[in-house]
Amino acid sequence: CGIVGYVGPRPSQDILISGLARLEYRGYDSAGIAVIDADGGLGMRKRAGKLQVLRDDLAAHPLPAGTTGIGHTRWATHGGPTDANAHPHLADDGKLAVIHNGIIENFAELKDELLSGGYTFVSETDTEVAAVLLGREFQASGDLVAAFRAVASRLEGAFTLLAVHQDQPGVVVGARRNSPLVIGLGEGENFLGSDVAAFVEHTRNALAIGQDQIVVITPDSVEVSSFDGTPVEAEPFEVVWDASAAEKGGWPSFMAKEVSEEPEAVANTIRGRIHDGAVVIPELAGMDDLFAGIRRVIIIACGTAAYAGQTGKYALEQWTRVPVDVELAHEFRYRDPVIGEDTLVVSISQSGETMDTLMAVKYARERGAKTLSICNTQGATIPRESDAVVYTHAGPEVAVASTKAFVAQITALYLLALHIGRVRGVLSGAESADHVRELEAVPPKISRVLAEEQAHIEQFSRWMADTQSVLFLGRHVGYPIALEGALKLKEISYIHAEGFAAGELKHGPIALIEPGQPVFVIVPSPRESAELHKKVVSNIQEIRARGARVIVVAEEGDAAVLPFADEVLRIPLAGPFFEPLLAVVPLHIFAMGLATAKGLDVDQPRNLAKSVTVE
Ligand code: G6P
Repeated sequence: CGIVGYVGPRPSQDILISGLARLEYRGYDSAGIAVIDADGGLGMRKRAGKLQVLRDDLAAHPLPAGTTGIGHTRWATHGGPTDANAHPHLADDGKLAVIHNGIIENFAELKDELLSGGYTFVSETDTEVAAVLLGREFQASGDLVAAFRAVASRLEGAFTLLAVHQDQPGVVVGARRNSPLVIGLGEGENFLGSDVAAFVEHTRNALAIGQDQIVVITPDSVEVSSFDGTPVEAEPFEVVWDASAAEKGGWPSFMAKEVSEEPEAVANTIRGRIHDGAVVIPELAGMDDLFAGIRRVIIIACGTAAYAGQTGKYALEQWTRVPVDVELAHEFRYRDPVIGEDTLVVSISQSGETMDTLMAVKYARERGAKTLSICNTQGATIPRESDAVVYTHAGPEVAVASTKAFVAQITALYLLALHIGRVRGVLSGAESADHVRELEAVPPKISRVLAEEQAHIEQFSRWMADTQSVLFLGRHVGYPIALEGALKLKEISYIHAEGFAAGELKHGPIALIEPGQPVFVIVPSPRESAELHKKVVSNIQEIRARGARVIVVAEEGDAAVLPFADEVLRIPLAGPFFEPLLAVVPLHIFAMGLATAKGLDVDQPRNLAKSVTVE
């Protein structure tokens, strides 16, 4: 869910709505706002559906203007996407409004307590419980902060809650436990947001706050304290993202814009981290002893970030000779993994807020592991909960399906691998410099793929608009790319898609091949990986013989694939570890092309949210 709060001199409604527009990637099942108007009344409007539905409703029936307010865009958890379940929720006297992100795990008990006291619920949400409890505490003390203090300690689970009360105009109070919340500092006005996107068009001065803290904003003050009332110093940071970077510009979709930014995402992640041909990551200064002593690396992540981890594993293990495992974050912490002080747990997350990943990081730390976060979002929770962070500099990613962040994540892993490989004496200076040169050559090569293949891929993806199923095959670093190609297609075009290790084909998946079945094959370089290349070409023949429609992603000049391919997508020559950064680009374009051909909203696919802050 996305959350925004505002207090200041300006009419809050426009600020809330434009904040929600920038947060809509966090969920788009419903949207709503609550505003304290000039007469001290509380106005509230909420509607199921995308933000536009709320916008149209407000245009037709405006709310009284006010300069204090909160807004919410929802990804449904408790209760379906209806008007009643949309946020804000009101206390029983109707004077207090609450918005919420997260899940209150003991909600059933609290709900029973309220039901037995005679309260009738108007929604199916856990949030309404918090609204009623806060409203009743406010009646007792007349103060929102006191009400939060009394209620926060009774709630279990993960939550960010924001509230306004009509008897305390000019105040927004928020509390967080594990769910995200950042503060934006303006001149005579202040903001709260799930992330900086909520207020980046108004201010770049931000404060990050910790867990189990309460924040109170007024037009000219910000106070942060722990749940028990101890004042806390919040950590200031400057938002480096440019507000315009999160705008669509002339592009048909954010995804189209973000795919076009894949070259810069890689280049910007490298920038400032290479000196005289060697990798220098300033954020990791002082950690060399730790890197020298580790005996194991575990990469944890979800979704596309996990595939970036699987891709990076090959080079990380090769260049450091430390065993590397990659695990889905939500599987990791429920199976008593073997970790200790000599384990480095590397989390990868674009948003830095994915709850599954956050919980796995905390678990690893509690078990004594060292934690390093690869993250694209400043001020996010996962880097704050980790011992170290290497930021990817992909810029804001708005489309739900991750694209430019994926290539930036692999890039960051490679930089980390090269650094650790040097520290451990596995790589010589010359070897490391060669890899650095290869990495630096990637951005212009991605640009070439975009320039030379985009129109071709869009054309055949249009012919494939009625396709029911697509398979993806790859081997070695091509295997996670096959998985990523399939995930992207599932996410945005709702087509059944599976990625397989090409070698596994004969052990089962080949039974799926029937005449006309489209299969993408990521072909390794014949120069760099001659053995593997031969094996994959054999796989292509095997599926072709059974009638598959074969679309190959192959290096320029690889003629061996031509006799068996229905479509050939070319990528420039690159070393084996660098091919995936190129091979994934046609797959991103294909998923986008097919979803567009089907008339779907590529930026906001059904049922998904970009930042999943519940477990
Ligand atoms: C969600 C998104 C995926 C994304 C995953 C991890 O499931 O729908 O596209 O890859 O979260 O997100 P993160 O922000 O942790 O990289």
